[in-house]
Amino acid sequence: MKLSAVKQSFLETLNSEYDGEEVLSFFYCLVEEFLSEKRFILHIKPDFEIDEKQVFKFEKALGDLKSHLPIQYILGYTEFMSLRFKVNSSVLIPRPETEDLIYYLDSCLKKREVYRILDIGTGSGCIGISLKYKVPRAQVSLMDVSKEALKTAEENAKMNDLEVELLHSDVLNTTSLNNSYDLIVSNPPYIRNLEKEVMRPNVLNHEPHLALFVSDEDPLLFYRKIAMLARDHLNLGGMLCFEINEAFGEETVALLDELEYKQIELINDRFGKNRIVSAIR
Ligand SMILES: C[S@@+](CC[C@H](N)C(=O)[O-])C[C@H]1O[C@@H](n2cnc3c(N)ncnc32)[C@H](O)[C@@H]1O
Repeated sequence: MKLSAVKQSFLETLNSEYDGEEVLSFFYCLVEEFLSEKRFILHIKPDFEIDEKQVFKFEKALGDLKSHLPIQYILGYTEFMSLRFKVNSSVLIPRPETEDLIYYLDSCLKKREVYRILDIGTGSGCIGISLKYKVPRAQVSLMDVSKEALKTAEENAKMNDLEVELLHSDVLNTTSLNNSYDLIVSNPPYIRNLEKEVMRPNVLNHEPHLALFVSDEDPLLFYRKIAMLARDHLNLGGMLCFEINEAFGEETVALLDELEYKQIELINDRFGKNRIVSAIR
């Protein structure tokens, strides 16, 4: 079959679900992945043919995209901070705003001595593993309640040739930690159930709800619990840093203030939304 016919079928089948540019970007990613060819292969060889097995792969991906499966799950990986991370249905796909958290932390960590880092709710491991890459001398621990997520984080650490510690724990039922840390960072579940209505089907129907949602009644549940735990397990002068729901910037700052944290900062992400809160113990 001609690859150009596959491209046409992608454009026609997906045009009611996505805009044309997005469909082309999916198609080109799949060309690179399935054929190990450059994305512009059709410009050089307009009659490029693919075999039956390859046609099957494209058809399967087309069906998956039609049902809004994220392209990252179809490919099985994504890029985050220029590192490659495996992703699957048990982990959240790392987001660009989470890269902003890493840029922010990277600038802070240049000014302080950091030997031990804990990433709570690590998912794919994208935060902790990127920090280990940036600060190789630090001992980094990755915590998650999901065994499947931790397995993926472990694979990602190995794939990037980085050593980390894995902690299988439910932070909401954790009363103490085995170590004290210089940095505790977390991007915990922060979307209220009431926000489901405005969410895109690729996120709502395919990403793990354990990673996304928190109750409408207590949206700061994870922040309160982690901030209290961090009071006992951050070294003096150590840093606590959260990714937050843009709707709860002031509330998160107030929570940390009540718990007597110092130098509390609320920082915007690249989209101009309240996204990061940091504080010093
Ligand atoms: C928003 S995701 C963040 C994933 C990753 N850190 C990132 O930034 O892409 C939240 C993570 O918290 C984990 N999680 C949910 N409840 C938890 C709990 N009670 N204790 C520890 N981890 C939990 C989920 O499994 C998920 O991996």
